Amino acid sequence: MASFSSLSFQTLILFAVISAVTPCPPSDRAALLAFRAALTEPYMGIFNSWSGYNCCQGWYGVTCDPTTYRVTDITLRGEPSEKNLQNLRRSSGLMTGNISPEICNLDNLTTLVVADWKSISGEIPSCVTSLSLLRILDLSGNQISGVIPVDIGKLQRLAVLNLGDNAISGKIPASIVDLAGLMHLDLGNNKISGELPSDFGKLGMLSRALLSQNNLTGSIPSSISKMNRLADLDLSMNQFTGSIPVEFGQMKVLSILKLDSNSLSGQIPSTLLNNAGMGILNLSRNGLEGTIPDVFGTKSYFMALDLSFNKLTGRIPGSLSATRFIGHLDVSYNHLCGTIPIGAPFDHLDEVSFSNNDCLCGNPLKTC
Ligand SMILES: *[C@@H]1O[C@H](CO)[C@@H](O)[C@H](O)[C@H]1NC(C)=O
Ligand SMILES: *[C@@H]1O[C@H](CO)[C@@H](O)[C@H](O)[C@H]1NC(C)=O
Ligand SMILES: *[C@@H]1O[C@H](CO)[C@@H](O)[C@H](O)[C@H]1NC(C)=O
Repeated sequence: MASFSSLSFQTLILFAVISAVTPCPPSDRAALLAFRAALTEPYMGIFNSWSGYNCCQGWYGVTCDPTTYRVTDITLRGEPSEKNLQNLRRSSGLMTGNISPEICNLDNLTTLVVADWKSISGEIPSCVTSLSLLRILDLSGNQISGVIPVDIGKLQRLAVLNLGDNAISGKIPASIVDLAGLMHLDLGNNKISGELPSDFGKLGMLSRALLSQNNLTGSIPSSISKMNRLADLDLSMNQFTGSIPVEFGQMKVLSILKLDSNSLSGQIPSTLLNNAGMGILNLSRNGLEGTIPDVFGTKSYFMALDLSFNKLTGRIPGSLSATRFIGHLDVSYNHLCGTIPIGAPFDHLDEVSFSNNDCLCGNPLKTC
Protein backbone atom coordinates (compact mmCIF):
# COMPACT_ATOMS: atom_id res chain seq x y z
CA MET A 1 0.00 0.00 0.00
CA ALA A 2 2.73 2.36 1.06
CA SER A 3 4.67 1.77 -2.14
CA PHE A 4 1.55 2.32 -4.24
CA SER A 5 0.77 5.66 -2.65
CA SER A 6 4.38 6.78 -2.95
CA LEU A 7 4.28 5.76 -6.60
CA SER A 8 1.17 7.81 -7.21
CA PHE A 9 2.78 10.67 -5.33
CA GLN A 10 5.74 10.45 -7.67
CA THR A 11 3.41 10.38 -10.64
CA LEU A 12 1.80 13.49 -9.28
CA ILE A 13 5.16 15.23 -8.94
CA LEU A 14 6.16 14.12 -12.42
CA PHE A 15 2.84 15.39 -13.72
CA ALA A 16 3.30 18.73 -12.02
CA VAL A 17 6.81 19.06 -13.40
CA ILE A 18 5.63 18.23 -16.92
CA SER A 19 2.74 20.67 -16.78
CA ALA A 20 5.00 23.40 -15.42
CA VAL A 21 7.37 22.76 -18.28
CA THR A 22 5.10 22.05 -21.23
CA PRO A 23 2.74 25.06 -21.34
CA CYS A 24 4.86 27.02 -23.79
CA PRO A 25 5.28 24.91 -26.95
CA PRO A 26 8.99 24.69 -27.79
CA SER A 27 8.28 25.96 -31.30
CA ASP A 28 6.60 29.13 -29.93
CA ARG A 29 9.47 29.64 -27.52
CA ALA A 30 11.99 29.21 -30.34
CA ALA A 31 10.10 31.77 -32.47
CA LEU A 32 10.12 34.27 -29.59
CA LEU A 33 13.84 33.78 -29.00
CA ALA A 34 14.56 34.33 -32.71
CA PHE A 35 12.40 37.48 -32.59
CA ARG A 36 14.32 38.66 -29.54
CA ALA A 37 17.71 37.85 -31.12
CA ALA A 38 17.04 40.30 -33.97
CA LEU A 39 16.35 43.19 -31.55
CA THR A 40 18.46 45.18 -29.08
CA GLU A 41 16.87 47.07 -26.22
CA PRO A 42 19.72 48.47 -24.12
CA TYR A 43 18.02 50.73 -21.57
CA MET A 44 15.01 49.11 -19.92
CA GLY A 45 16.05 45.49 -20.06
CA ILE A 46 12.61 44.21 -21.02
CA PHE A 47 14.08 41.11 -22.61
CA ASN A 48 15.82 40.07 -19.36
CA SER A 49 12.50 38.50 -18.40
CA TRP A 50 12.54 36.35 -21.54
CA SER A 51 14.32 33.44 -19.95
CA GLY A 52 13.43 29.95 -18.77
CA TYR A 53 11.35 27.36 -20.57
CA ASN A 54 7.87 28.68 -19.97
CA CYS A 55 7.36 31.62 -22.30
CA CYS A 56 3.78 31.82 -21.03
CA GLN A 57 4.95 32.87 -17.60
CA GLY A 58 6.69 36.10 -16.75
CA TRP A 59 7.94 36.94 -20.24
CA TYR A 60 7.39 40.70 -20.50
CA GLY A 61 4.78 41.55 -23.12
CA VAL A 62 3.94 37.93 -24.00
CA THR A 63 0.49 36.42 -23.43
CA CYS A 64 -0.64 32.84 -24.10
CA ASP A 65 -4.02 31.23 -24.54
CA PRO A 66 -4.97 29.77 -21.10
CA THR A 67 -6.10 26.45 -22.54
CA THR A 68 -3.86 25.79 -25.54
CA TYR A 69 -0.78 27.61 -24.17
CA ARG A 70 -0.12 29.01 -27.62
CA VAL A 71 1.33 32.53 -27.74
CA THR A 72 -1.48 34.92 -28.71
CA ASP A 73 -0.16 38.41 -27.89
CA ILE A 74 3.11 40.27 -28.14
CA THR A 75 2.73 43.81 -26.86
CA LEU A 76 5.94 45.81 -26.57
CA ARG A 77 5.51 49.56 -26.40
CA GLY A 78 8.28 52.11 -26.06
CA GLU A 79 7.53 55.73 -25.37
CA PRO A 80 5.59 57.79 -27.88
CA SER A 81 7.83 60.61 -29.03
CA GLU A 82 6.42 63.91 -27.91
CA LYS A 83 7.27 66.26 -30.72
CA ASN A 84 8.15 69.12 -28.35
CA LEU A 85 10.07 67.02 -25.87
CA GLN A 86 12.04 65.03 -28.35
CA ASN A 87 15.30 65.10 -26.45
CA LEU A 88 13.82 64.47 -23.06
CA ARG A 89 14.51 60.93 -21.84
CA ARG A 90 14.70 59.93 -25.48
CA SER A 91 17.06 57.08 -24.80
CA SER A 92 14.87 55.05 -22.43
CA GLY A 93 12.34 53.70 -24.92
CA LEU A 94 14.73 52.74 -27.65
CA MET A 95 15.22 49.56 -29.61
CA THR A 96 17.27 48.77 -32.68
CA GLY A 97 17.29 45.79 -35.00
CA ASN A 98 14.42 44.42 -37.05
CA ILE A 99 11.33 42.24 -36.86
CA SER A 100 12.34 38.67 -37.53
CA PRO A 101 10.23 36.64 -39.99
CA GLU A 102 10.38 33.83 -37.39
CA ILE A 103 7.48 35.69 -35.77
CA CYS A 104 5.31 34.09 -38.45
CA ASN A 105 5.73 30.70 -36.76
CA LEU A 106 3.48 32.01 -33.97
CA ASP A 107 0.42 31.02 -35.96
CA ASN A 108 -2.03 31.70 -33.12
CA LEU A 109 -0.93 35.32 -32.75
CA THR A 110 -3.85 37.77 -32.52
CA THR A 111 -1.94 40.88 -31.39
CA LEU A 112 1.44 42.10 -32.54
CA VAL A 113 2.37 45.47 -31.09
CA VAL A 114 5.99 46.57 -31.40
CA ALA A 115 5.49 50.32 -31.33
CA ASP A 116 7.29 53.55 -30.47
CA TRP A 117 10.79 52.13 -30.20
CA LYS A 118 12.03 54.80 -32.61
CA SER A 119 14.92 52.86 -34.15
CA ILE A 120 13.66 49.45 -35.21
CA SER A 121 14.40 49.26 -38.92
CA GLY A 122 14.21 46.64 -41.65
CA GLU A 123 11.03 45.61 -43.41
CA ILE A 124 7.69 44.17 -42.37
CA PRO A 125 8.15 40.39 -42.85
CA SER A 126 5.90 39.57 -45.80
CA CYS A 127 4.87 36.33 -44.08
CA VAL A 128 2.82 38.26 -41.46
CA THR A 129 -0.09 37.90 -43.85
CA SER A 130 -0.11 34.17 -43.01
CA LEU A 131 -1.02 34.98 -39.39
CA SER A 132 -4.69 34.40 -40.09
CA LEU A 133 -5.88 35.14 -36.53
CA LEU A 134 -4.20 38.56 -36.33
CA ARG A 135 -6.53 41.33 -35.12
CA ILE A 136 -4.05 44.06 -34.18
CA LEU A 137 -0.88 44.88 -36.10
CA ASP A 138 0.83 47.96 -34.67
CA LEU A 139 4.43 48.66 -35.68
CA SER A 140 4.10 52.47 -35.48
CA GLY A 141 6.80 54.86 -34.36
CA ASN A 142 9.85 53.04 -35.69
CA GLN A 143 12.02 53.33 -38.81
CA ILE A 144 10.56 50.44 -40.72
CA SER A 145 11.06 50.68 -44.48
CA GLY A 146 10.01 48.63 -47.48
CA VAL A 147 6.44 48.09 -48.56
CA ILE A 148 3.12 47.01 -47.07
CA PRO A 149 2.77 43.28 -47.94
CA VAL A 150 0.84 43.08 -51.21
CA ASP A 151 -1.53 40.41 -49.88
CA ILE A 152 -2.37 42.29 -46.64
CA GLY A 153 -6.04 41.68 -47.53
CA LYS A 154 -5.63 38.05 -46.45
CA LEU A 155 -5.75 39.14 -42.80
CA GLN A 156 -9.50 38.70 -42.60
CA ARG A 157 -9.71 39.36 -38.85
CA LEU A 158 -7.62 42.50 -38.82
CA ALA A 159 -9.28 45.37 -36.92
CA VAL A 160 -6.29 47.65 -36.33
CA LEU A 161 -3.51 48.34 -38.82
CA ASN A 162 -1.12 50.95 -37.50
CA LEU A 163 2.10 51.48 -39.42
CA GLY A 164 2.27 55.25 -38.86
CA ASP A 165 5.51 57.17 -38.28
CA ASN A 166 7.86 54.89 -40.16
CA ALA A 167 9.67 55.04 -43.53
CA ILE A 168 7.35 52.76 -45.50
CA SER A 169 7.28 53.34 -49.26
CA GLY A 170 5.53 51.86 -52.26
CA LYS A 171 1.81 51.86 -52.89
CA ILE A 172 -1.17 51.02 -50.75
CA PRO A 173 -1.91 47.43 -51.88
CA ALA A 174 -5.19 47.01 -53.77
CA SER A 175 -6.03 44.09 -51.48
CA ILE A 176 -6.38 46.45 -48.49
CA VAL A 177 -10.04 46.93 -49.36
CA ASP A 178 -10.62 43.24 -48.52
CA LEU A 179 -10.00 43.92 -44.81
CA ALA A 180 -13.71 43.74 -44.07
CA GLY A 181 -13.33 44.17 -40.31
CA LEU A 182 -10.78 46.99 -40.32
CA MET A 183 -11.76 49.73 -37.88
CA HIS A 184 -8.59 51.76 -37.48
CA LEU A 185 -6.06 52.46 -40.23
CA ASP A 186 -3.00 54.63 -39.60
CA LEU A 187 -0.37 54.90 -42.32
CA GLY A 188 0.48 58.54 -41.57
CA ASN A 189 3.97 60.02 -41.82
CA ASN A 190 5.57 57.52 -44.18
CA LYS A 191 6.73 57.69 -47.81
CA ILE A 192 3.76 55.97 -49.40
CA SER A 193 3.05 57.00 -52.99
CA GLY A 194 0.56 56.22 -55.73
CA GLU A 195 -3.21 56.52 -55.61
CA LEU A 196 -5.78 55.44 -53.05
CA PRO A 197 -7.68 52.42 -54.46
CA SER A 198 -10.86 53.78 -56.07
CA ASP A 199 -12.90 51.23 -54.09
CA PHE A 200 -11.35 52.32 -50.78
CA GLY A 201 -14.92 52.92 -49.58
CA LYS A 202 -15.42 49.14 -49.37
CA LEU A 203 -13.84 49.32 -45.90
CA GLY A 204 -17.26 49.57 -44.30
CA MET A 205 -16.17 49.15 -40.67
CA LEU A 206 -13.48 51.83 -40.76
CA SER A 207 -13.89 54.65 -38.27
CA ARG A 208 -10.47 56.31 -38.51
CA ALA A 209 -8.36 56.61 -41.66
CA LEU A 210 -5.13 58.50 -41.05
CA LEU A 211 -2.99 58.82 -44.17
CA SER A 212 -1.41 62.25 -43.73
CA GLN A 213 2.20 63.12 -44.56
CA ASN A 214 2.78 60.73 -47.41
CA ASN A 215 3.19 61.19 -51.13
CA LEU A 216 -0.26 60.09 -52.24
CA THR A 217 -1.45 61.37 -55.61
CA GLY A 218 -4.56 61.26 -57.78
CA SER A 219 -8.05 62.22 -56.77
CA ILE A 220 -9.86 61.47 -53.52
CA PRO A 221 -12.15 58.48 -54.23
CA SER A 222 -15.81 59.42 -53.86
CA SER A 223 -16.43 55.84 -52.66
CA ILE A 224 -15.15 57.04 -49.26
CA SER A 225 -18.54 58.68 -48.72
CA LYS A 226 -20.05 55.16 -48.47
CA MET A 227 -18.14 54.49 -45.26
CA ASN A 228 -20.97 54.79 -42.78
CA ARG A 229 -18.77 54.59 -39.70
CA LEU A 230 -15.99 56.90 -40.78
CA ALA A 231 -15.60 59.63 -38.16
CA ASP A 232 -12.05 60.80 -38.75
CA LEU A 233 -10.45 61.18 -42.19
CA ASP A 234 -6.98 62.70 -42.44
CA LEU A 235 -5.51 62.93 -45.94
CA SER A 236 -3.50 66.09 -45.22
CA MET A 237 0.03 66.79 -46.48
CA ASN A 238 -0.09 64.65 -49.59
CA GLN A 239 -0.36 65.51 -53.27
CA PHE A 240 -4.04 64.83 -53.92
CA THR A 241 -5.52 66.67 -56.88
CA GLY A 242 -9.04 67.16 -58.26
CA SER A 243 -12.02 68.37 -56.30
CA ILE A 244 -13.48 67.43 -52.92
CA PRO A 245 -16.18 64.79 -53.52
CA VAL A 246 -19.55 66.52 -52.98
CA GLU A 247 -20.83 63.32 -51.32
CA PHE A 248 -18.61 63.99 -48.29
CA GLY A 249 -21.18 66.47 -47.01
CA GLN A 250 -23.72 63.68 -46.54
CA MET A 251 -21.54 61.49 -44.37
CA LYS A 252 -23.40 60.83 -41.14
CA VAL A 253 -20.66 60.48 -38.55
CA LEU A 254 -17.74 62.26 -40.18
CA SER A 255 -16.62 64.87 -37.66
CA ILE A 256 -12.94 65.41 -38.47
CA LEU A 257 -11.93 66.05 -42.07
CA LYS A 258 -8.38 67.15 -42.80
CA LEU A 259 -7.51 67.69 -46.44
CA ASP A 260 -5.00 70.50 -45.88
CA SER A 261 -1.72 70.84 -47.77
CA ASN A 262 -2.70 69.06 -50.96
CA SER A 263 -3.33 70.37 -54.46
CA LEU A 264 -7.12 70.22 -54.44
CA SER A 265 -9.05 72.51 -56.78
CA GLY A 266 -12.65 73.39 -57.51
CA GLN A 267 -15.19 74.72 -55.07
CA ILE A 268 -15.99 73.85 -51.46
CA PRO A 269 -19.10 71.61 -51.54
CA SER A 270 -21.85 73.48 -49.69
CA THR A 271 -23.03 70.28 -47.97
CA LEU A 272 -19.68 70.09 -46.23
CA LEU A 273 -20.28 73.40 -44.48
CA ASN A 274 -23.84 72.75 -43.36
CA ASN A 275 -23.17 69.21 -42.14
CA ALA A 276 -23.95 69.78 -38.45
CA GLY A 277 -21.72 66.91 -37.29
CA MET A 278 -18.53 68.43 -38.71
CA GLY A 279 -16.31 69.62 -35.85
CA ILE A 280 -12.89 70.04 -37.42
CA LEU A 281 -12.58 70.97 -41.08
CA ASN A 282 -9.18 71.85 -42.44
CA LEU A 283 -8.97 72.69 -46.14
CA SER A 284 -5.98 75.02 -45.78
CA ARG A 285 -3.21 75.22 -48.41
CA ASN A 286 -4.94 73.94 -51.49
CA GLY A 287 -6.12 75.64 -54.67
CA LEU A 288 -9.81 75.90 -53.78
CA GLU A 289 -11.68 78.66 -55.57
CA GLY A 290 -15.09 80.24 -55.83
CA THR A 291 -17.03 81.71 -52.93
CA ILE A 292 -17.53 80.25 -49.44
CA PRO A 293 -21.07 78.82 -49.66
CA ASP A 294 -23.50 80.81 -47.49
CA VAL A 295 -25.05 77.73 -45.92
CA PHE A 296 -23.90 77.60 -42.30
CA GLY A 297 -26.62 76.44 -39.94
CA THR A 298 -27.52 77.29 -36.37
CA LYS A 299 -26.50 73.74 -35.36
CA SER A 300 -22.96 74.07 -36.69
CA TYR A 301 -20.33 73.68 -34.00
CA PHE A 302 -16.81 74.00 -35.32
CA MET A 303 -13.83 73.44 -33.07
CA ALA A 304 -11.75 74.51 -36.05
CA LEU A 305 -12.60 75.75 -39.54
CA ASP A 306 -9.46 76.47 -41.55
CA LEU A 307 -9.87 77.64 -45.14
CA SER A 308 -6.64 79.65 -45.27
CA PHE A 309 -4.17 79.73 -48.18
CA ASN A 310 -6.62 79.07 -51.01
CA LYS A 311 -8.03 81.17 -53.85
CA LEU A 312 -11.43 81.88 -52.35
CA THR A 313 -13.24 85.00 -53.51
CA GLY A 314 -16.36 86.94 -52.51
CA ARG A 315 -17.57 87.72 -49.00
CA ILE A 316 -17.45 85.94 -45.68
CA PRO A 317 -20.95 84.41 -45.57
CA GLY A 318 -23.37 86.07 -43.19
CA SER A 319 -24.71 82.69 -42.05
CA LEU A 320 -21.34 82.00 -40.43
CA SER A 321 -22.27 84.42 -37.64
CA ALA A 322 -25.36 82.30 -36.88
CA THR A 323 -23.42 79.15 -36.01
CA ARG A 324 -23.50 77.84 -32.45
CA PHE A 325 -19.74 77.94 -32.00
CA ILE A 326 -16.51 78.48 -33.89
CA GLY A 327 -13.41 77.86 -31.80
CA HIS A 328 -10.81 78.60 -34.42
CA LEU A 329 -11.54 80.27 -37.75
CA ASP A 330 -8.92 80.96 -40.39
CA VAL A 331 -9.77 82.47 -43.78
CA SER A 332 -6.46 84.31 -44.18
CA TYR A 333 -4.49 84.35 -47.44
CA ASN A 334 -7.43 84.24 -49.86
CA HIS A 335 -9.03 86.87 -52.09
CA LEU A 336 -12.01 87.68 -49.90
CA CYS A 337 -13.61 91.09 -49.85
CA GLY A 338 -16.34 93.01 -48.03
CA THR A 339 -17.49 93.46 -44.45
CA ILE A 340 -16.70 90.85 -41.80
CA PRO A 341 -20.05 89.74 -40.31
CA ILE A 342 -20.88 90.67 -36.74
CA GLY A 343 -22.03 88.10 -34.20
CA ALA A 344 -21.14 86.06 -31.14
CA PRO A 345 -19.03 83.43 -33.01
CA PHE A 346 -16.78 86.25 -34.25
CA ASP A 347 -16.27 88.10 -30.96
CA HIS A 348 -13.16 86.24 -29.86
CA LEU A 349 -11.40 86.22 -33.23
CA ASP A 350 -8.52 88.53 -34.03
CA GLU A 351 -6.89 89.94 -37.15
CA VAL A 352 -4.81 86.87 -38.05
CA SER A 353 -8.02 84.95 -38.82
CA PHE A 354 -8.75 87.40 -41.65
CA SER A 355 -5.38 88.82 -42.72
CA ASN A 356 -3.94 88.87 -46.23
CA ASN A 357 -7.14 89.04 -48.23
CA ASP A 358 -8.00 91.48 -51.02
CA CYS A 359 -10.36 93.91 -49.35
CA LEU A 360 -11.89 92.60 -46.11
CA CYS A 361 -12.87 95.22 -43.58
CA GLY A 362 -14.66 95.71 -40.28
CA ASN A 363 -13.85 94.46 -36.78
CA PRO A 364 -11.21 93.10 -36.01
CA LEU A 365 -9.69 94.64 -39.18
CA LYS A 366 -9.88 98.33 -40.04
CA THR A 367 -13.32 99.91 -40.36
CA CYS A 368 -14.90 99.87 -43.81
C1 LIG B 1 -3.79 27.59 -33.27
O1 LIG B 1 -3.28 26.63 -32.40
C2 LIG B 1 -3.95 25.38 -32.45
C3 LIG B 1 -3.42 24.56 -31.30
O2 LIG B 1 -2.03 24.52 -31.30
C4 LIG B 1 -3.70 24.77 -33.80
O3 LIG B 1 -4.33 23.52 -33.89
C5 LIG B 1 -4.28 25.71 -34.87
O4 LIG B 1 -3.97 25.24 -36.15
C6 LIG B 1 -3.72 27.11 -34.71
N1 LIG B 1 -4.49 28.03 -35.52
C7 LIG B 1 -4.05 28.53 -36.67
C8 LIG B 1 -4.96 29.43 -37.39
O5 LIG B 1 -2.98 28.26 -37.11
C1 LIG C 1 7.06 62.52 -53.78
O1 LIG C 1 6.87 62.34 -55.17
C2 LIG C 1 7.56 63.26 -55.97
C3 LIG C 1 7.17 63.07 -57.43
O2 LIG C 1 6.32 61.97 -57.61
C4 LIG C 1 9.05 63.08 -55.76
O3 LIG C 1 9.76 64.02 -56.53
C5 LIG C 1 9.36 63.29 -54.29
O4 LIG C 1 10.72 63.03 -54.04
C6 LIG C 1 8.53 62.38 -53.42
N1 LIG C 1 8.72 62.73 -52.03
C7 LIG C 1 8.92 61.83 -51.08
C8 LIG C 1 9.07 62.35 -49.70
O5 LIG C 1 8.95 60.63 -51.30
C1 LIG D 1 -4.67 73.28 -41.02
O1 LIG D 1 -3.63 72.83 -41.86
C2 LIG D 1 -2.54 73.73 -42.00
C3 LIG D 1 -1.62 73.25 -43.09
O2 LIG D 1 -1.40 71.88 -43.08
C4 LIG D 1 -1.89 73.89 -40.65
O3 LIG D 1 -0.79 74.76 -40.72
C5 LIG D 1 -2.92 74.43 -39.67
O4 LIG D 1 -2.37 74.53 -38.36
C6 LIG D 1 -4.17 73.56 -39.60
N1 LIG D 1 -5.22 74.26 -38.89
C7 LIG D 1 -5.71 73.81 -37.74
C8 LIG D 1 -6.79 74.62 -37.13
O5 LIG D 1 -5.30 72.81 -37.20
